[in-house]
Formats: sequence, structure tokens, C-alpha cells
Amino acid sequence: MPMPTVHDIEALAADLDTLDLTGRLRRVAERFPGRVVFSTSLGQEDQVITDAIWRADLPIRVFTLDTGRLFEETYALIDATRARHGRPIEVFFPDTPEVEALTGARGHHSFRESVEFRKECCHIRKVRPLQRALQGAEVWITGLRREQSANRQTMRVIEWDEGYELLKCNPLIDWDTDAMLRYLTAHDVPQNPLHARGFVSIGCAPCTRAIAAGEDPRDGRWWWETSKKECGLHR
Ligand code: ADX
Ligand code: SF4
Repeated sequence: MPMPTVHDIEALAADLDTLDLTGRLRRVAERFPGRVVFSTSLGQEDQVITDAIWRADLPIRVFTLDTGRLFEETYALIDATRARHGRPIEVFFPDTPEVEALTGARGHHSFRESVEFRKECCHIRKVRPLQRALQGAEVWITGLRREQSANRQTMRVIEWDEGYELLKCNPLIDWDTDAMLRYLTAHDVPQNPLHARGFVSIGCAPCTRAIAAGEDPRDGRWWWETSKKECGLHR
């Protein structure tokens, strides 16, 4: 979509800032009818948003990126979440020839060899399917929160995403962990059993580990790397 004016984005952000979660989701669904999609990784933030979308019966498509390397627990949670509400979660899978070329050339664990190879794997398994999932969308909803990492401190409730050329809406951006956990408990939302075993931020199985008390949540992702731990979905 063409980039809205900075003034329009600021006005929308100021409006969304005053609303609660359901109000934010409803507002974007009304402003961009049929053009709002939500990407869920089935993490705690995303489970809150999915619950809020379906509870309020909002016309927002929910999809997940199945990298082919997710935990069994995550696959089970996709099914449990669908079953609980009787609603669809669309699944986007990587392109078969691209995965075949990657694993044929470099094996199944190339992501351990260098940051460059890790980004290549994330690009093929996540970014490219995301590009497909976002086709035709004007607003992309995510579960990003400022508290999650230093990189996320400056993110807004809605912002222009230059890479994907659409509005990115982060309706939980200002939520703290307690508020998120309260919502999950209050609505008895299904969660990944790995959270109870020390996993906070959960991505692909070979690239996610539990963290110890005092460790940063992002320390559980690509822990062998020292650079900024982002996968390329969010710039
Ligand atoms: S990542 O960049 O490190 O992978 P993170 O796990 O923190 O991202 O998730 C942030 C947001 O990105 C989620 O709330 C979700 O909107 C989106 N996201 C991440 N992984 C996936 C996935 N596998 N499928 C769909 N959305 C995802
Ligand atoms: Fe590949 Fe790991 Fe990225 Fe998943 S998180 S796409 S397995 S490098």
C-alpha cells in the first residue's frame, strides 16, 4: 500500500494509545476492512491477541509461520487453540525447493556455523513465507512488547514498516509481563507447556533454549550468537 502521511500515522497512534487491547484491534479492523492480518507464533503475547480477536469476533485473519522446525508442543498448541474457539489459524510453510536447496547444500544445522547462515535459514523459513502471508494486507498485527528487548524500546503501537510496505500494529507494545499473565489466567487461555520449564520467548526448536533466573528473555534465542538477536521478521 502507499505510505500514509506521517500526520495520519501519528493521529492513528494517538487514538490507539487511548484504547484497550480490544479497542485497538477493533479500530484497525474498522479503519482497514478486510485488510488486517495477525501473525501468531503461539507465544504468550500472541495467545492473548488471538483470544481477544476471536472473543470479540473481529474480522482479522490469524496465521502462523510453520518453519518446519517448531517444537512438538507448539504444534499441539496450534491445534488446541483452533479447537478451543473453533476458528482457523492459517499456516504458511516455506517454499519446498528453497528448503531443499538449503539443506542439500549446507545440511540441517547450518544456522550454527555463522550468523550469515542463520539469517539465511530464517529468511527461507520465516521471512519469505511472511512476505506471502502479508500479500494484500494493509495492517500487520504482531505481539511485540517494549519490555522484550532493547531493540523494541522505541517501537510504537502503530508504525510504518518500510520493508513490507504496510502498517505494523503492536497492540501489546505497552503491556508489562504481569498484565499479560493476568489476561492469560483470567481467560484461561491455553499456553505452551514449555513456559513452565523456563522457556520464555519460543521460536524454532534447535534455536530456542530455557533461560535461568536473571537471564534476559532473548538469551534463550540463538544463544550461541553474541550479536543482536532478531530473526529478520522485525527490523
Ligand atoms: S522473533 O523475531 O524473535 O522470531 P518473536 O518470537 O519475539 O520474534 O515474536 C515477535 C512477533 O513476531 C510475534 O508476536 C509474532 O507476531 C511474530 N512471529 C514470530 N514468529 C512467528 C511465527 N513463527 N509465526 C507467526 N508469527 C511469528
Ligand atoms: Fe532456521 Fe533457527 Fe531461524 Fe528457525 S530460528 S528459521 S531453525 S535459523
